[in-house]
Amino acid sequence: MNIKSIGFVGTGVITEAMVRGLLAEPTYALEIHVSPRSAHIAETLAGEFAAVKIAKDNQDVVDRSDMVFLAIRPQIAEEVVRALSFTDGQMVVSVVAATERQALIDWVGANVRLVQAIPLPFVAARQGVTAIYPADDSVAALFDTLGTAVQCQSRKEYDLLAAASSMMSTYFGIMETVAGWLEGNGLERAKGHAYIAPLFASLAQKASGPSAEPFSTLSREFATRGGLNEQVLSDFGRKGGIAALTAALDGVLARIEGRSS
Ligand SMILES: NC(=O)c1ccc[n+]([C@@H]2O[C@H](COP(=O)([O-])OP(=O)(O)OC[C@H]3O[C@@H](n4cnc5c(N)ncnc54)[C@H](OP(=O)(O)O)[C@@H]3O)[C@@H](O)[C@H]2O)c1
Repeated sequence: MNIKSIGFVGTGVITEAMVRGLLAEPTYALEIHVSPRSAHIAETLAGEFAAVKIAKDNQDVVDRSDMVFLAIRPQIAEEVVRALSFTDGQMVVSVVAATERQALIDWVGANVRLVQAIPLPFVAARQGVTAIYPADDSVAALFDTLGTAVQCQSRKEYDLLAAASSMMSTYFGIMETVAGWLEGNGLERAKGHAYIAPLFASLAQKASGPSAEPFSTLSREFATRGGLNEQVLSDFGRKGGIAALTAALDGVLARIEGRSS
């Protein structure tokens, strides 16, 4: 499909990140229409990029766009989406979190091509990995520009990656725990931060790319027998750290799948 114009209903944090990524050089999109609410972000983007136009209202975004992104919060999604008229065959990408695909289809009301996606803020720097469902070449091409698209073959795969994406805050929480522990033991916080962030970045780098070894191999490789890394990993497991993490992932998956609130 030849996408000439892309629209965003909801001009918040994740829309700003996607627009910045799309319009980085070499630009992906010819024309981008954003909804006028959140005037500050809409005006900043329109002021910075000639390709960004502020639409009159949400319907104007839909009418002007070949591919329409729904980027409003889940709590208001039904009200916002039901009020819009889409054309049959229009490409609609919902990034609204934790919302049933069938509900979205009911609200949209037309026979659109609906794809769900989980963009992450790193799309702004074209470094975001984005799960999409169902597989769709035009949407995958767009998210490949913004980093890497992962096309899910089933709803289950998509829900599992959505659960994995909920690890972001815990990742920083682990770094915060280590920084706080260092500080408590007398190391200046800024020094702890300057040490921990590049340490974690190097580890993530080591596990990335097509020739990376499995996590389990890396974990073994970095745990010298009888060494300090092995001690922390073993203590963490024995004292319930791994069980707590697994239970938290089970809980978030249950919520994503509508089995709990
Ligand atoms: N942030 C992320 O990293 C991320 C990642 C993946 C998915 N998501 C999902 O993306 C969606 C948006 O998230 P966000 O972080 O961008 O939230 P956000 O910053 O709060 O943006 C939502 C935007 O929707 C606007 N809005 C409210 N009512 C509207 C209406 N009736 N018509 C048009 N726009 C309206 C808000 O404007 P006001 O500010 O004026 O109320 C706000 O600018 C959510 O469903 C979220 O779950 C977010």
